[in-house]
Amino acid sequence: DKGNHRHFMEKEIYEQPEIISHALGNYVDFAAKTLKPQADAIDFSKLSGLAISACGTAYLAGLVGKYWFERYARLPVEIDVASEFRYRELPLSPTQAALFISQSGETADTLASLRYAKEQGLKIGAIVNVQESTIARESDAVFPILAGPEIGVASTKAFTCQLAVLASLAIGAARARGTIDAAAEKEMIGHLIEMPRIMSRVLNAVQPQVEALSRDLSRFKDVLYLGRGTSYPLALEGALKLKEISYIHAEGYAAGELKHGPIALIDENMPVIVIAPYDRFFDKTVSNMQEVAARGGKIIFITDEKGAAATKLPTMATIVLPEVDEVISPMIYALPIQLLAYHTAVFMGTDVDQPRNLAKSVTVE
Ligand code: M6R
Repeated sequence: DKGNHRHFMEKEIYEQPEIISHALGNYVDFAAKTLKPQADAIDFSKLSGLAISACGTAYLAGLVGKYWFERYARLPVEIDVASEFRYRELPLSPTQAALFISQSGETADTLASLRYAKEQGLKIGAIVNVQESTIARESDAVFPILAGPEIGVASTKAFTCQLAVLASLAIGAARARGTIDAAAEKEMIGHLIEMPRIMSRVLNAVQPQVEALSRDLSRFKDVLYLGRGTSYPLALEGALKLKEISYIHAEGYAAGELKHGPIALIDENMPVIVIAPYDRFFDKTVSNMQEVAARGGKIIFITDEKGAAATKLPTMATIVLPEVDEVISPMIYALPIQLLAYHTAVFMGTDVDQPRNLAKSVTVE
């Protein structure tokens, strides 16, 4: 049932604040601002490393997770798309653990990667939505994302719930490894607890602007997304979401890679979506944005209040989000990105919930 919404995708975008709060409730004790034992089902304390594998949007959630596990828990992460991971003959050891992320829990390549890691003697964790799935059944520890059925082929609420679970696990890993103190842990958990409310505010605040902007975006043939740090996987996710439902060609790049090739494409026919919260990467990303502006590229700048105040470059649009901590920014910045893809596809008149050539669950190689 779509409720008042035109498409399941729209409904699933707007469900996120409520659903993510429910998902977090499984891992976080809201009153005590501590993690629940569910977040510790894998013992991260003595691991030499973590291997992560998944496909599509689930892989991009894992890529954000890599930044968190490495930064907060000082845990090295090896991550790859499952179709490569399963055949790479990657040397793994039982001193590592492996995490597989899958909404459906049935993705063939992800399952094959899981079986490969299992043969190498690693402890297996699965972040899944469908708890009765094959991937869940074959794992030692299951971390449900509790997103409820996701009908739209384009993943939205599963992505942000995967991120919420990964953030909880990374905080737990950091505590287990002694790389954050109790005060830092409480502070990060506090940010997670505030997140659902910020998400609802953002969804309501940006919707009219993003919808109007989508009409302009639907006139272009190619779009580039740029970001640094955890905004880099978000740039990839933005491009994936736009291409799969609007069929507009889109690429995501690490902002620092711009001058190593893609800058050759920049002209007035190529909108560049820059994802840049006012964080420790901000100045670097803005200098890449300057390079785009100098070549006549049209910029859609997604930033926060501080970032908007600090930049005077002309843009096609500036979407201003509230200032948030780094540990929740990927979930917050995912929202305008999803809305932009959604409304652009609606303007293009595509079949938003059932895009051509795509299946919700990819159970063959
Ligand atoms: O069920 P899974 O999470 O394993 O599916 C992985 C991908 O097929 C999926 O995320 C796909 O990329 C989506 N269509 C993206 O919106």
